[in-house]
Amino acid sequence: MLKIEHADKTFLAGTPNEHHALCDVSLSLGRGEFVTLIGTNGAGKSTLMNAVSGNFWLDKGTITLDGEDITYKKEHKRASQIGRLFQDPMKGTAPDMTVEENLAIAYARSKRGAFQLALKKADSVFFRQSLADFGLGLEDRMKTKVGLLSGGQRQAVTLLMSTIAQPKLLLLDEHTAALDPSAAEKVLQITNQIVKKQNLTTLMITHNISQALKMGDRTVMMNAGRIILDLSGEERKNMTVPELLELYAQKNNEELDNDRMLFS
Ligand SMILES: Nc1ncnc2c1ncn2[C@@H]1O[C@H](COP(=O)(O)OP(=O)(O)OP(=O)(O)O)[C@@H](O)[C@H]1O
Ligand SMILES: [Mg+2]
Repeated sequence: MLKIEHADKTFLAGTPNEHHALCDVSLSLGRGEFVTLIGTNGAGKSTLMNAVSGNFWLDKGTITLDGEDITYKKEHKRASQIGRLFQDPMKGTAPDMTVEENLAIAYARSKRGAFQLALKKADSVFFRQSLADFGLGLEDRMKTKVGLLSGGQRQAVTLLMSTIAQPKLLLLDEHTAALDPSAAEKVLQITNQIVKKQNLTTLMITHNISQALKMGDRTVMMNAGRIILDLSGEERKNMTVPELLELYAQKNNEELDNDRMLFS
């Protein structure tokens, strides 16, 4: 579904701040595959996602989504194919508009050419049901302004907005990092629920290694712009957090403690 081949990117080339952020990165995700992406600060995880969503163009390499070469496709044209969530629960929603209005905008955007914000009754029932499925009581808050919801509730709404158009790919950039542990747990549950229901191809960045090993089907680790580990199947299933940290140390001649990975 997603194929990144030999992606290379240097920021601020030719200046003292030159940074080789992606070094010949290749990564493929099959349809419906759920990959978690880990690595220390500055490893290039968000940069890889930004490349996929079209935030900048690669210096070298190609990106293919569902058979289409999107390497030079403009960001706004990829937006309907790619759902994206960030750490900040306010990103991607209009705080002064109600839950229902935010969902209506996301839904209208998904219908090519149709710029109708008017909320049809059938749509409203669909939104209500989708929210009810989350088990957060959000179906009774549809007339509430999004800015008044808790962080976890907002992230749940944003998740629904990002996936309402049934994108080909879902990109999650530490989308639970700003939440308290119980809200984070709930949003992760909802994430799993949506991903399974739509069989969404998903890439999720997290700093929490045990979460990375638990969620999804495969775990990829980046360091200094490169992919250094790609775990799946039995190897992943049997992997513990200390073993993974040890593997990192072996590959980089560098100690890595869990705290650095978790709280950095
Ligand atoms: N637009 C940009 N211009 C210049 N440098 C950039 C840009 N985007 C990213 N970088 C640099 O690329 C490197 C990788 O950054 P990136 O945000 O991808 O790291 P990350 O793995 O997501 O880290 P974190 O866990 O802290 O979010 C960093 O050194 C960053 O400063
Ligand atoms: Mg990042």
